[in-house]
Amino acid sequence: MINCKEEILKMKEEKNATILAHYYVRDEIQELADYVGDSYYLSKIGLKLDAEIIVFCGVSFMAECAKILSPHKKVLLPNLEAKCHMVELASKEDLLNLKEKHKTAKVVSYVNSSTDIKAISDACCTSSNAYNIVKNIDADEIIFVPDKNLGSHIQKMLPEKNIILWDGYCCVHDDISSESVLNYKEKLDTEIKILVHPECNLEVRKLADFVGSTGQMIDYVGKCDSNDFLVLTESGILYELKNRYPDKVFHNLDTICNPMKCITLEDLYNSLLFEKNEIFLEESLRIKANNALLKMLELGK
Ligand code: 13P
Ligand code: SF4
Repeated sequence: MINCKEEILKMKEEKNATILAHYYVRDEIQELADYVGDSYYLSKIGLKLDAEIIVFCGVSFMAECAKILSPHKKVLLPNLEAKCHMVELASKEDLLNLKEKHKTAKVVSYVNSSTDIKAISDACCTSSNAYNIVKNIDADEIIFVPDKNLGSHIQKMLPEKNIILWDGYCCVHDDISSESVLNYKEKLDTEIKILVHPECNLEVRKLADFVGSTGQMIDYVGKCDSNDFLVLTESGILYELKNRYPDKVFHNLDTICNPMKCITLEDLYNSLLFEKNEIFLEESLRIKANNALLKMLELGK
């Protein structure tokens, strides 16, 4: 019987590979990863690495972002089933039609979108930099695709911009109901701070003490005096929160993103061993999508 963990660490050295992981993947994968972060952090970190291979433990759009920004690296996705549901909710054809109707508008696409969508966008954004991107992009009218919840959250903060929302959403976050949050809160006899991911619906966002990306939530806890937190995002984030703040208490509504959780240690082992599930992108498409991602890095500062 092979020891997956030891073998992965050995192969990583031999092959000059780096493992990147999102906060939503299984604990044992976060534990092995070289870098763990939110989608903005993970898109930037790939650029700094001198590794020949990046094994991306996250959903496919994240691995594609790494390949778009670092085309000379071999990028592997350990399980091809790891696909974000939201990506399917925006097609190139529909976006081109909407662009036709709003000729002066600029397109900001959430990174949770396909490479095709990124390639016809003016800039990309993640949940942690969307405010800066929409604020700094030189247009008053913005088509924001595909997450209507993140888009309307940004619209509230930037009333001077006219954001045209797409009808997309994350079924995992959008499914969290304000009733379930209030019920949970009622059963506790302690004061809790409510942290909400901007992919959650408006009723849930209204209950928040803080709205932000996974990385921003983790930073917020570090700066906050409170001891108890209800964290309204995928439960994988608890691994980092508990490690970083062992004296604080974290609650979650058992929110699970199946595509993130489908990546196992065995998948990681096999993808490194056989260098399988490599991401390939057509070069002219990659260059266009790269422009939108580079614009995000420029405007997001
Ligand atoms: P973060 O940018 O907060 O990591 O979010 C990514 C994501 O897919 C949330 O569902
Ligand atoms: Fe996509 Fe939602 Fe999963 Fe994030 S939590 S990867 S948006 S399906």
